[in-house]
Amino acid sequence: MSDKAFLDLNGEKFELPISKGTEDELAIDISNLRSATSGYITLDPGYKNTGSCESAITFLDGEKGILRYRGYAIEELAEKATFLEVAFLLIFGELPTKEQLEKFHKDIKSHCIVDDDVKKILDAFPKSAHPMGVLASLTSALTAFNPSSVNVESEQDMYNAIVRILAKFPVLVAWTLRKKNGLPLDYGDKSIGYVENTLKMMFKQPNEEYEHNDVMIDALDKLLILHADHEQNCSTSTVRIVGSSHAGLFASISAGISALWGPLHGGANQAVLEMLEAIKADGGDTKKYMAKAKDKSDPFRLMGFGHRVYKNFDPRAKIIKKSADEVLGQLGVDDPILDIAKGLEKEALEDSYFVDRKLYPNVDFYSGIIYRAMGIPTDMFTVMFALGRLPGWIAQWREMRLRKEPIGRPRQLYMGETYRKFTEIEYR
Ligand code: ACO
Repeated sequence: MSDKAFLDLNGEKFELPISKGTEDELAIDISNLRSATSGYITLDPGYKNTGSCESAITFLDGEKGILRYRGYAIEELAEKATFLEVAFLLIFGELPTKEQLEKFHKDIKSHCIVDDDVKKILDAFPKSAHPMGVLASLTSALTAFNPSSVNVESEQDMYNAIVRILAKFPVLVAWTLRKKNGLPLDYGDKSIGYVENTLKMMFKQPNEEYEHNDVMIDALDKLLILHADHEQNCSTSTVRIVGSSHAGLFASISAGISALWGPLHGGANQAVLEMLEAIKADGGDTKKYMAKAKDKSDPFRLMGFGHRVYKNFDPRAKIIKKSADEVLGQLGVDDPILDIAKGLEKEALEDSYFVDRKLYPNVDFYSGIIYRAMGIPTDMFTVMFALGRLPGWIAQWREMRLRKEPIGRPRQLYMGETYRKFTEIEYR
């Protein structure tokens, strides 16, 4: 096979190098196309065929349903690793030794205080504010309280910014929920695990001892691992592109949170639950909603179905479906919503509309059901996704900075008016 591609433009031949990834993925390198062809660019709305970078963090094969972080299969990581181990793996490239993990956790814990003045910002939000908007704002505000996180010239500077955001983010997540629930804000407990502490910060009542629940800790750990990275998706690309201007880590993460918010991306977990609730309230007629999803004149889509990259089963959805059954059983929750979800999935997998378009349940089809069983309100689901995705965003931002990638700046094909002479207002 040739390691070059050839482009014939009006009879002139251009040679384009071909790059091969470690998993044999192939890419035509067009980085010199515009200068070589005096002006031609490629056009690819939605970037369906465009690689924005080389990356060594996450591999996914959407046709085969494979997802690996740094070479390790998601199935094995979800079963055997903790979220903090996975965070270390994603960010620094290798599974940590016991000592490395302890140091990492210790460094994170040493930065878990969020400046008390951040509470004033939180106070200014109405209780009805969507938690994703609150989280994005507070994360951005953290920059003002940690100005040294912006100028990262060395790996040590980066490390300092990374442990700070990993420490403070769960506090912001918990505060967002507590504000919603009218509970006093808390700074957590340094003596316990990262995920355990997150749950305690979220749910501890001011007037009673907090009881740890191992089922909840395990379930959240697994959900966070499954969401930890997913290569160049919408929010991750946002983090990389914002960071490419050398904006700081916190500002880049804040932009990622905003990108994740939308219902076509992370917001799907909230949308799935709302859809299942609506079907239940409407008498549980799944067939009616299947028909709506297939009707091109109806904007309704089966939320939690379909994926830009997975054209086979999302491997995370398989793990989550099993986990949903286990967690609800162990927590003693009997949720009719789970039966509606299973019914919809069964019908969709047998329906030619979904089969032909390779539409399978994605990671978020079942995650909301678990969050709900854990007592997390629906509008906090995407916040939980953001907490899980944080190590991935950090890893991608760090990789982009270490590789000294140029500022992200796509081109366009201008389709507007050509030059027009200005007309003074009295003549328009
Ligand atoms: N319900 C009904 N039809 C669907 C659905 C769905 N959920 N998803 C895709 N389709 C149909 C489209 O109408 C289109 O049909 P057509 O070819 O007849 O026009 C075809 O399948 C292809 O769909 P596209 O939107 O072109 O696929 P794309 O790759 O651009 O979009 C996306 C992927 C955004 C995830 C889409 O499947 C969707 O909207 N799903 C529902 C929202 C969702 O669950 N998002 C979460 C994604 S996972 C995540 O971010 C964590």
